[in-house]
Amino acid sequence: MNILFFGDVVGKIGRKALLENLPILKKKYNADFVIVNAENITHGKGIIKKHYNFLGNIGVDAITLGNHYLNRISLNEFINEATSLIRPVNLIDYKLGLGSRVFKVNGINIRVTNVLCKNFMNIECDDPVISLNNVIKDTSEKEIHIVDLHGETTAEKESIAYYFDGKISAVLGTHTHVQTNDLKILPKNTVYISDVGMCGESISVLGFDCKSVIEKSILNKDNPFQINDNGKYLINGVFLKFNDSTLKAEKVELIKIDQYEYEEN
Ligand SMILES: [Fe+2]
Ligand SMILES: [Fe+2]
Repeated sequence: MNILFFGDVVGKIGRKALLENLPILKKKYNADFVIVNAENITHGKGIIKKHYNFLGNIGVDAITLGNHYLNRISLNEFINEATSLIRPVNLIDYKLGLGSRVFKVNGINIRVTNVLCKNFMNIECDDPVISLNNVIKDTSEKEIHIVDLHGETTAEKESIAYYFDGKISAVLGTHTHVQTNDLKILPKNTVYISDVGMCGESISVLGFDCKSVIEKSILNKDNPFQINDNGKYLINGVFLKFNDSTLKAEKVELIKIDQYEYEEN
């Protein structure tokens, strides 16, 4: 089973990056299943139905979210019919949609779960470890279980991954939008990376226009974040290969395609 997972898609340029590269990458990795984190797909915040449909049309099988899951309130109108969408499983008061889903692919069950971490997330949620244990106790061992672990700190994400080593097929970090260089298979066979990264503008702060973020974040001006639609893009993802009989991870590879190349002048 060959699985591709791409980090947070940010805005129109992130969608363009996937549109242009997904067919090539699916062919290159002989992908059977594609997962994308889309919490920032609609102009950087949330997801509208049009962009949910866009991902399905370009060949994405499962779509995860994160703390920005409800930035577009229209999600409420389509989430219950959105069969490939997975919102955070440990939301406290939000009951629409599902936080963990099983997909049948070539006779193999693939479970995808989305969970929010606690540290520095500014969103109230249930404890991620308790929530994941609740998901696991209801699952069959005969499935590949991919967890999108959406959180800010590497320590919390690493701790959760090692705690669940051998109990979850892959724990893939998202949310920071910066790809980390620690993709590995842990001793009991759980695949782990602290953060998959993002798909969006390359010369940006987390996918957003540098100037607008600098003004808002460090100069304390009250400007909204902007996204440049016409810049050069970056694609961050991971490739995971699982044995079809044992369902064990056999191979992992970091994916990074960056259109930007530094030119000295
Ligand atoms: Fe994000
Ligand atoms: Fe996030």
